[in-house]
Amino acid sequence: MNKLTKKQIGQLKPSATLAINEESNKLKKSGKKVYKFGFGQSPFPIPESVVLELKNNSSKNFYLQMQGLEELRSVIANHLNKNNNNNFNKENIIVGPGTKELMFLTQIAFEGDILLPAPSWVSYQPQAIIAKNKVHWIQTTSNSNWFPTAEKLEEKIKSIKNKNLLLLINSPNNPSGTVCKNLEEIVDVAKKYKLIILSDEIYSRLTFNDQYKSISSIYPERTIVSSGLSKWCGAGGWRLGFFAIPDQLAELKNSLKILCSESFTSVSAPVQYAAVRAYKDDHSDYLMKVKKILSFVANYVYENLKSNAINVLQPEGGFYLFPEFTSAKFSSSSEMCKDILNKTGVALLPGSDFGLPSNKMIARLSYTDFDGANFLKGILGSKKLDDADLKKYAPNIVDGVSALKEWSNSL
Ligand SMILES: Cc1ncc(COP(=O)(O)O)c(C=O)c1O
Repeated sequence: MNKLTKKQIGQLKPSATLAINEESNKLKKSGKKVYKFGFGQSPFPIPESVVLELKNNSSKNFYLQMQGLEELRSVIANHLNKNNNNNFNKENIIVGPGTKELMFLTQIAFEGDILLPAPSWVSYQPQAIIAKNKVHWIQTTSNSNWFPTAEKLEEKIKSIKNKNLLLLINSPNNPSGTVCKNLEEIVDVAKKYKLIILSDEIYSRLTFNDQYKSISSIYPERTIVSSGLSKWCGAGGWRLGFFAIPDQLAELKNSLKILCSESFTSVSAPVQYAAVRAYKDDHSDYLMKVKKILSFVANYVYENLKSNAINVLQPEGGFYLFPEFTSAKFSSSSEMCKDILNKTGVALLPGSDFGLPSNKMIARLSYTDFDGANFLKGILGSKKLDDADLKKYAPNIVDGVSALKEWSNSL
C-alpha cells in the first residue's frame, strides 16, 4: 500500500503495541492473570533530580524557541560529542515531543524511498505509508544478529530505481534486543550510495556492556541521531526526544524545522527545563542500577526459554527478546500469539508486526512487567542479583516465563 487516500488512513490499524495493551487490559478486567510482555515501557522511575527540576519549572508558561531551548540543545550536543564521538553544536539539534513525532515529520519532509530492515519497530512502516514514501524491506536473520548484511543491503539498493534513500538502523534493537555488530560494512555501502541513515538510538544508554558504538561516529556526514528521554530516563510519558542532524543535511533539517513549527510549535517548557538536568547531570549511578536489573531479568528470560523448542539470541540492551518457537504450527505468528495469550495469559507481539513473514513463528517479548521503583529500592547497595531477588521483585517475569516454557513444551 503506497498511495493512501485520506479515507484509507482511517482504515489503518492502530499501532500494534497499543492494541495488544488494550487486549491484555480487557482480559485482566475479566479476571484472568495477564503477563504484560507485549508493551515496552520503562518500569523505572525518573531520576529524582530530574523530577525536582520539573517541579521547580512548572510555572514556566511560555512557548519556547521552536527548535528547542538553547541550553537544552547545547547540553544534548555536548552529551553526544562526549559519548558518540560526534561533532555537533546546538544548531544541529531539534527537540520534539518524542522521537516518534520527529520521525514522522522527517518522513513527510524526505523526498525518496525508505529502507527498513525486517524486523523493525512497528511505527516506521505506517509512518512511511502515511507520508507516501515507498518502503523496501530488507529481510535479516538471527545469523547477522537481526541486522542487514552489506550484501543484502546492496542487493536491495540495486533493485530500487529511486537512489534517494533513507535507511533506518535501530541498535539496540526493538524487537530483537540485539546490537548491530556490522556497522562498518553497512557504512561502506551507505557511502557508496550516499544513503541517509536515521540512527534510532533510543535504547543506546541501556546497552548492557556499556560499549555502545553509534553509526554516526563512522558516518557523521549523513547520519541523523535520534534519541530522547523515553527509555533510559523512564520518561516516555513526558514526550521529549531529539534529532541531531549534521550540517551536510541542512536542507532536510530546514524542512523539518518548518514542519515542527507548523505542527507542535515547541515542546512543553517545564519538560525542556527538566531535560537540561537529565543531559547535564551525571546519572551513571542510576543507569548502572537500571542496567544491572534489566540485564539480569533479560538473561533470566533468555536462559529459561532457550531450548530445542525455542530459538532466541541473548539480549544485549533495551527491553526485548525475540523468541522463535520451532515446533509451533499456526497459520500465522498472530494466531500463535492469540493462542499463547488465551492459554497462558502471556501477551506477546507477533513477528509479523515487525515486518517478518507471518508464517515465521516468532514474537517479541518485553521483559518490563515489574515494579522498577521497588526493585531499585530493594537492591540498594546490594551484592550480585540472584533468582530469589527476581522472585521477590519481578514475580510476573518468573511466572510468565514458566507458563510460556510450558506452552512451548506442550506443542
Ligand atoms: C525503536 C523505537 N524507536 C522510537 C520509539 C519512540 O520513542 P519516543 O518516546 O521518543 O517517541 C520507540 C518507543 O517505543 C521505540 O521502541
